[in-house]
Amino acid sequence: MTTRSKNSADDPGEARSRHAELVSEIARHDELYYSKQSPVIADVEYDELLRELLELEEAFPVLVSPDSPTQRVSGRPVRSLESVAHRRPMLSLSNTYGREDVMDWFASVTDFLGDSAAEALFNIEPKLDGVALELVYENGVLVRAITRGDGKVGDDVTHTVRTIKDIPDRLSGDAAPSLLEVRGEVVMTHENFQRVNAMRDKAGEERFVNPRNLTSGTLKMLDPRIAATRPLDFMAYGLGETDGFETTGHSDALRALERLGLRTAGDLACRGTLDEVLAHHDALLERRGELPFDVDGSVIKVDDYALQQRLGERSRSPRWAIAFKFPAQTATSVVREIQVQVGRTGALTPKAVIEPTYVGGVTIEHVTLHNKDEIERLGIKVGDRVLLERAGDVIPKILSVTESGEGAPFFMPTRCPSCDTIVIDDPGEVVVRCPNRSCPAVLARRVEHFVSRAALDVDGMGSKLVAQLVEEKVLTSLGDLYALTGEQLMKLPRMGEVSARNVLAGLEVSKTRPFARVLFGLGIRHVGQHVAEVVANHWRDFGALREVKFEQLEDVNEIGPTVAGSLMSWLSDEVEQEQIDRMLDAGLAPAMSSPPATGEGILAGRSFLFTGALEQMSRREANEMVKAAGGRLVSGVSKNLDVLVVGKKPGSKLKKAEALGVEVMEENAFLRLLRPFETS
Ligand code: IVH
Repeated sequence: MTTRSKNSADDPGEARSRHAELVSEIARHDELYYSKQSPVIADVEYDELLRELLELEEAFPVLVSPDSPTQRVSGRPVRSLESVAHRRPMLSLSNTYGREDVMDWFASVTDFLGDSAAEALFNIEPKLDGVALELVYENGVLVRAITRGDGKVGDDVTHTVRTIKDIPDRLSGDAAPSLLEVRGEVVMTHENFQRVNAMRDKAGEERFVNPRNLTSGTLKMLDPRIAATRPLDFMAYGLGETDGFETTGHSDALRALERLGLRTAGDLACRGTLDEVLAHHDALLERRGELPFDVDGSVIKVDDYALQQRLGERSRSPRWAIAFKFPAQTATSVVREIQVQVGRTGALTPKAVIEPTYVGGVTIEHVTLHNKDEIERLGIKVGDRVLLERAGDVIPKILSVTESGEGAPFFMPTRCPSCDTIVIDDPGEVVVRCPNRSCPAVLARRVEHFVSRAALDVDGMGSKLVAQLVEEKVLTSLGDLYALTGEQLMKLPRMGEVSARNVLAGLEVSKTRPFARVLFGLGIRHVGQHVAEVVANHWRDFGALREVKFEQLEDVNEIGPTVAGSLMSWLSDEVEQEQIDRMLDAGLAPAMSSPPATGEGILAGRSFLFTGALEQMSRREANEMVKAAGGRLVSGVSKNLDVLVVGKKPGSKLKKAEALGVEVMEENAFLRLLRPFETS
């Protein structure tokens, strides 16, 4: 073969024909290997073909085409990801969690279709928990791969997608449609996920939390050579725009895609009556643990395209499909240790350290046990095997002890684990508290909260530094914070001049954060972000607030007697007030909050609520944007809500909003509202 490549390298005509021969030969072996799982040559022979192709392309760079197998692993890094519009929007699915919801959906389909519903067949497939992707094939050649993005515009990830072995660069057969947009999910198998994490461990890098994040991160990498070291799988489940691809329904289309060399969920999918697909759902649920990748439910679709078209779609999801989510995932693990943490208010919180266990899409190593009641309910001890549950993005929970271990029974400590002070364990309260006001653990938590992003947002001050400052007794109260000096900082282990300067700069910048953020940062009981803002809008600095009377506080809408009482007792607490004086003396000068929205601004007169995981901004930023633009925030879905902005995995709020006819928009649409004059 090498001789042949040398010969062809001398003659461009011959090189071109040899190149074509090699490309099709390699594509054939890829197909045999990946799709049919029956290779006919050994790996070394395959590598030899690839090497010959590479040499040929080095000699004749004009021959390098996007579908060349060499482009799979040796593609060049891109500078940035380009945004590309989908020819047809990529919709999402409404979620249901129980059989009744599915029956309701079925009833709505039947209502809509009338008589023709009787013959409707359904298709059921696993709901793969990965990343949605659109592949664009023109005349059988993969020209582009785009992430879902906001459904209308996604990122061009063609360079990393070319490294995915399930995705052919060229469709099989000789009757390729002139345009075929294939949609599907990119996933990573558990095996590959473990392998990538093991490599990370070796390199001393942080592990990925779950295959979905790793998949998404890999697709969006700029350098395909690194992406190639993280094997991904792709399964097709739908179509975008097509030309010359005639199919009558979903299962028909899936079979046609398979014939073109694309992978689908295969046997994990089936077509049948509603009863049949529901039975298949149960079977999938049973097999969930054996599947090589994460599946978080099933997707039920009306099979026939003509019926799908009649059913049409609502704002963001089709009426002809529904996701039937699996219940929260459970797993068992063994308790290694029970630790007790001391919180900002002195509350002692027990936490179980368990054998790392993969459940519900993440590896869990710690589970909170909340309080003494929870410990009592579970009767938990070190060495016990416990049943864990994790649903969606909810924090993991221990449901029960399934097997008792050898450890001694666990009791809440009678002394604070940080300062050894005798704790207060009031039988009428579930919380056990350390009463020591200078307890180092309480102080560290208070400082962490004060400097956190939602509060004073002090750049360069993470929890490690706070722990050092408290441990070395540089900080003995919150009041010391703004009196910190470069000298003090530089005495800390591993703290150089540059880092010390950065910390001081971070502190300096934070001195003028809005008064509301400072109030929130002080951790006054019952004063969360919202209440802090309400208070700061009425009493705009410490001077004014210190003059306030209980009745005046209570007069404010949104401040009840509990909050008012808590603020009054904080105001009369000399230790707390002395700390504030020291911070003010050291230069803390909070900016006055702007007065409440006066009905001006681009969102004036409209109320907003956010739900689901936002991807482009934090919840806090989103709320601030609404307020800055004169809009109002509300806390629940009701007729008074004008707009529900949905991020990833919206829950019941979305359902409720849809039922009430509240306007629903995605994150990008919300951002566009704020920039109406920009064109994209
Ligand atoms: S169909 C209009 N089928 O679920 C129909 N989606 O919320 C749109 N997904 O973004 C999708 N497995 O990433 C469909 N078998 C499947 C799926 C599936 C996973 C994901 C997909 C989509 C999300 C919908």
